[in-house]
Amino acid sequence: MTPGFPGFAPEFPGVTLDRLQAWLPTIGRAAVVLVAVVVALVAVSRLLRWKAPRVHWYVFGFPLLRLRMRRSWRHLCLNAQLTGTDRPTTGQLGPLLVKGQPIMPVLPLLRRIRPRSFGATAVILLHPGQVPEPFVNAAEAMAHAWGVHAVRVDARLRGRVRLTILTADPLISEETEPATWQTGPSPEPAAVTSHPLDAIEATTPSAVPMDLAAKVGQREDGQRWVIDLVTFPHWLIAGATQSGKSTLINAAVAQWATRPVALVGIDCKGGMELAPHAPRLSALATDRAEAADILAALVAETQRRMGLCRQHGARNIWQLPPLVRPVPVVVIVDELAELYLVASRADKDEALRATTNLLRLAQLGAALGVHVIVAGQRVGSDFGPGVTALRAQLAGRICLRVNDEETVKMTLGDLYPDAVDAAQQIDPAVKGIAVTTADEAGWIRARSVYLSPEESAAVIAATAHLAPVLPGLTPPTA
Ligand SMILES: Nc1ncnc2c1ncn2[C@@H]1O[C@H](COP(=O)(O)OP(=O)(O)OP(=O)(O)O)[C@@H](O)[C@H]1O
Ligand SMILES: [Mg+2]
Repeated sequence: MTPGFPGFAPEFPGVTLDRLQAWLPTIGRAAVVLVAVVVALVAVSRLLRWKAPRVHWYVFGFPLLRLRMRRSWRHLCLNAQLTGTDRPTTGQLGPLLVKGQPIMPVLPLLRRIRPRSFGATAVILLHPGQVPEPFVNAAEAMAHAWGVHAVRVDARLRGRVRLTILTADPLISEETEPATWQTGPSPEPAAVTSHPLDAIEATTPSAVPMDLAAKVGQREDGQRWVIDLVTFPHWLIAGATQSGKSTLINAAVAQWATRPVALVGIDCKGGMELAPHAPRLSALATDRAEAADILAALVAETQRRMGLCRQHGARNIWQLPPLVRPVPVVVIVDELAELYLVASRADKDEALRATTNLLRLAQLGAALGVHVIVAGQRVGSDFGPGVTALRAQLAGRICLRVNDEETVKMTLGDLYPDAVDAAQQIDPAVKGIAVTTADEAGWIRARSVYLSPEESAAVIAATAHLAPVLPGLTPPTA
């Protein structure tokens, strides 16, 4: 009998030196095959990553990410205090009632990890008694644990939180879409959120608002960035000089210009920013005195529209008969500070007149088809009490890179406190990146599309004939 292989004998009595020698070629062949398979997989992965990054993501990247998420979930929950418990945390010890940490914590369930073009989405099911806040705070920890660019936590659902996992910063790594998509009119009408009460409130079938959605760029979740005046009637855009305010406004104007919409410019920097749009504008103010007059005329126009609605029993202009329905008006203010700043007594009266009328437009305009887009380098309480009242009316917020914390807080802090950090981290080297209101996601990062002055001028020239004449206002080219 062949003696047993000494090292293996106790554990594997059947394994002998002879047998091992007989298996060696097979083991060798298996090792070669294994190495060949690994090398081939690495080569295919590299090639796919280079030639077809999206396919690479679905075939290799996502399965690895899911594995990493599952493996690290327990540690992550324990370290970031995301666990719950199904036992009481107080108990009786002799005559004492003691409170302690559960020794058998229960992990929240990580479910529905799905691949997306930008990364992945997942849902966390909360245990009774858990609230979403610790999950929002743990977003950074999740990004580190899973080795991804960022994790966004949407905490607005009941009993669960939704994760959007971004593998890279799409606003920097991907090219912004070509400008052509956003110069033509929108192919479909805006989706109108349906609500059971809508059926009662809409008195006529034509009460559907016009499509006022301007596609202005790309969001970090891969969707288009849209400034939709139906969802949010008025917008505040804050951004330091050269951060991309005018570029963003140009992209939006290029979209609205192709539709039956009156555009009004208030540019107290002498018209430098909005003058290129003059042929398509229904009015343009280049200093504060003109701004005060134009805003007063617009307030008068909203009052006329109110009378019209009263007369027809309508609650907004979209419920008016088409023949009497006025066109929507978009008032664009570039550099808010110029309206508020005062150096003399005469300035004070003029500023008060301009800013009071702007506030009235924002308060009254939404249902009457008058929308306000206000842009500024700084927004601060030092502008006066009127600025906070104005901000309260501007539900749509966009914060590009800014230089001071107060402006970020004024722009985002009241509605999205957790977006303040994200806005402060905007890279100054990359223009046009902003933190913005997103209807279904709360807030999101996005980057505007860049329209060259020539492309912008071409759209304005092609649409100049669409500029409506508004009562009490003179078009700038007249
Ligand atoms: N989305 C973008 N993509 C690429 N470049 C951009 C983008 N947005 C802005 N830029 C670049 O940044 C420059 C400054 O942008 P813009 O004029 O819009 O800034 P601004 O905030 O209006 O500045 P200011 O307050 O001085 O008027 C532009 O000339 C353009 O080159
Ligand atoms: Mg500008």
